[in-house]
Amino acid sequence: MTDIIPREFIELLLAKIDLVDLINVQVPLRKKSGSNYFARCPFHNEKSASFSVSQPKQFYYCFGCGAHGNAIDFMMQHERLSFPEAIEALARHTGMEVPRSATFKKDDSLPALYELMKEAAAYYYDQMRQSKRAIQYLKQRGISGAIARQFSLGYALPGWSHVLDTFGKTEADKKRLLETGLVIKKNEGGYYDRFRDRIMFPIHDYRGRVIGFGGRILDQGEPKYLNSPETPLFQKGHELYGLYQALKANRKLERVMVVEGYMDVIALFQHGLPYAVATLGTATSTHHLERLFRYTAEIIFCFDGDEAGRGAAWRALQVIFPLMHDNLQVRFLFLPEGEDPDSLVRKEGKTAFEKRLQDAPSLSAFFFQTLSRQSDMSTMEGRARLAAQALDYIKQLPSGIFQEMMTEELSKQARIDIYSLKQQIKDTHRTASVPTINAETPAHPLQPAQAKTKMPVPVKLAIALLVQYPRLASLVQTPLPTAQLPGYSFLSRLLEIVQNRPNIVTTGALIEYWRGQKEETFIMKMAHFEHMIPDNGIESEFLGTMRQIAMLAFDEEINRLLAKATREGLSEEEKVELSAWIAKKKTILSI
Ligand code: UTP
Ligand code: MN
Repeated sequence: MTDIIPREFIELLLAKIDLVDLINVQVPLRKKSGSNYFARCPFHNEKSASFSVSQPKQFYYCFGCGAHGNAIDFMMQHERLSFPEAIEALARHTGMEVPRSATFKKDDSLPALYELMKEAAAYYYDQMRQSKRAIQYLKQRGISGAIARQFSLGYALPGWSHVLDTFGKTEADKKRLLETGLVIKKNEGGYYDRFRDRIMFPIHDYRGRVIGFGGRILDQGEPKYLNSPETPLFQKGHELYGLYQALKANRKLERVMVVEGYMDVIALFQHGLPYAVATLGTATSTHHLERLFRYTAEIIFCFDGDEAGRGAAWRALQVIFPLMHDNLQVRFLFLPEGEDPDSLVRKEGKTAFEKRLQDAPSLSAFFFQTLSRQSDMSTMEGRARLAAQALDYIKQLPSGIFQEMMTEELSKQARIDIYSLKQQIKDTHRTASVPTINAETPAHPLQPAQAKTKMPVPVKLAIALLVQYPRLASLVQTPLPTAQLPGYSFLSRLLEIVQNRPNIVTTGALIEYWRGQKEETFIMKMAHFEHMIPDNGIESEFLGTMRQIAMLAFDEEINRLLAKATREGLSEEEKVELSAWIAKKKTILSI
């Protein structure tokens, strides 16, 4: 959805919002120096106030933990929203409507679909309360009335048209029922209820809106669980059953357990473990994990103890590896044969179950355990095989302490020198990673390809000043003459962006432009680069720096051509070029 919210809208939105107001509601700010506000950082525990918010820059930065960003980042980090959710929340805050591109025309009808799902859930709930059969089933499975209410469990009556008759009065109503997947279209025309004689589990999104249902058969039969199809409201690969209830029970989730089934989530909740979620009959996806890591730093996966369970765990591990940042913890709990969390927690109770969670092997333990089982560690060949396999995975970890520790462990287990392992990891990074800004200039033919050309200090300062005070762009006439100085073309691009986009007037808006791009980290660094220039000196310092850069750029071109002249001589064209650069340098000197 990211790319279908027009960039212009996001810029306008950021121009309308005041970051100080926005943050102040959640984290009371005190005005301290100049235009900066301070508070105790909401992102880490501290006694002093290192969290700063700049009104003119529309940018926050914590000197303690390094948290930083604009209004959108604040909503994502503090309210734990995804990017589109953050935009939506900010738009609501300002009373603006998020425009959608043509592919999302259906959006007009979304509120009506949500409403219908809500009514259907209430209807199923009522039916459950009136049905002896449903109540009997829930009782027999040990589900309390309170839990049934908390999870809005319901019952779909036997019969083909209860929902259809109740909610499908007009053709338009019927179409909506079809769109939500509550009814199915017959080949010969007409519709019938999808869910019949089933216990209904409404699936909520993070805001508590009903987006789908799971329906369990009461007796034997196939399929045991029937789920809503993919609809405009419901994407199975993204949603997690029970997340809404877990968050409602506790805004700060210390850990989250990922289990397989609806009943597992509910039984764990009822027995005092209100932090389980279930994927909806799909394997754990990157979407699921990204969502979960927004709410918690620890995830424990529950799997069956058999071979199939271990296989599933290994597949989950592969999805997790690229997301494994240093402050996260992942563990794998393997259940005894024939048990699922539902049966086990009922049998053992909370304390014993939590003990299992505590003792569950960590990601790294499970990783090495699995690999070493596949190789004969008493032979050199076996250890080499382990090392080769393990490296393939370790390379995928984000670089950081965790990756270092895994490399160290591998070095111990395979008895291979750690430096040669590290070298192998580095080599892949070099070939795989996208070029950084420093490398944007084509490498000099005489230099080894890998040597990065470093950005000269004035170029870096000019970029930092522009990022921190976008208004400075109006002082420069563009386009800048082209030159091959490292970082120079990036600087001209930055100038051009600010000059052409009227709503980019603050740091917060400018950094937004780079979200998700390879330059993002660099821009963020520039946003809180300590330049030490007093407020009233910013403009003249910037202009001075730009002149310095021009000189550097011209010198670079002049030297390049002079070197060529002594080496092999210049063509007529190059001679003209050389004198043009010299002339340009002179004009600068005369300013
Ligand atoms: P299980 O078959 O392990 O059932 O399916 P369960 O969760 O233990 O359910 P109970 O205890 O028998 O009631 C695990 C999960 O797989 C999905 C559902 O999400 C279910 O909760 N599933 C299973 C389906 O989607 N369809 C099915 O037919 C079966
Ligand atoms: Mn079960």
